[in-house]
Amino acid sequence: MHEHRILFVGDVVGDLGVAYLERHLPVLIAEHRPTLVVVNGENADVTGPRPATGLGMTPRSAERLFEAGADVLTGGNHSWDGPEAAATLALPRVLRPHNYGVRAPGTGACVVERGGVRYGVLDLTSRSALPAADHPYDAFEAVVQGWGDAVDAVVVDFHGDGATEKAIFGYAVAGRAVAVLGTHTHVPTADARLLPGGTAFVTDVGMTGPANSMQGYDPDVFVAAYRDRLPLAAPSRVADGPIALGAVLVHAHGPRAVAIERLATPTEEAHA
Ligand SMILES: [Fe+2]
Ligand SMILES: [Fe+2]
Repeated sequence: MHEHRILFVGDVVGDLGVAYLERHLPVLIAEHRPTLVVVNGENADVTGPRPATGLGMTPRSAERLFEAGADVLTGGNHSWDGPEAAATLALPRVLRPHNYGVRAPGTGACVVERGGVRYGVLDLTSRSALPAADHPYDAFEAVVQGWGDAVDAVVVDFHGDGATEKAIFGYAVAGRAVAVLGTHTHVPTADARLLPGGTAFVTDVGMTGPANSMQGYDPDVFVAAYRDRLPLAAPSRVADGPIALGAVLVHAHGPRAVAIERLATPTEEAHA
């Protein structure tokens, strides 16, 4: 089994984030030559007035991200937000957390062959991000055992709030996934490393969205609600300003990762 690389981009926030990837993802792909590109798109759109249920991804944003170079789009607790969620989740290679019941639209696992590598991509969530989710470890076992020899390398997007839970999950599957990459907090962590057996791990890849913001959104409405202890007075709004890139590159040899590096935000964009 030969060498390959996985480029993973964390939660893309809003049209600004999608447009940023339209400009920069082709450049990153040309520079790093990833075999597989995975993008978490759960925050690509604002679809409703309440932040808990009004984010998600529309089919148009999904198509834009695929056109920019994504092979697989993952999701999270916002995967079912908005009136077009089911249409988005019906698209090939659009995933939502797999461990969320059996009746919710969509799937959380797919097999994609790129560059002679059969990737199994698995989208899981912790209960800290989606309280009604099933146990993510049980879902991992069921899916990975089901794939068996049909998959060469397993890539997991692990969506969740808790750093400890993400680490426990990473160690629980160490050596059986080429990468366990955290999403959901939108905050990049500095702990990208290899777990025993060759599993690339990071607690959170971080968002791809406006840097001067609260998780990519304008903080004012949230600050007012927090300070006054009142419901949000206005819909969440994606912030303005320069975009931060949340992305990691995993270098692998067959089913094992040999390195993981965080990709820096291109400086010209950071100072735009
Ligand atoms: Fe997110
Ligand atoms: Fe999330």
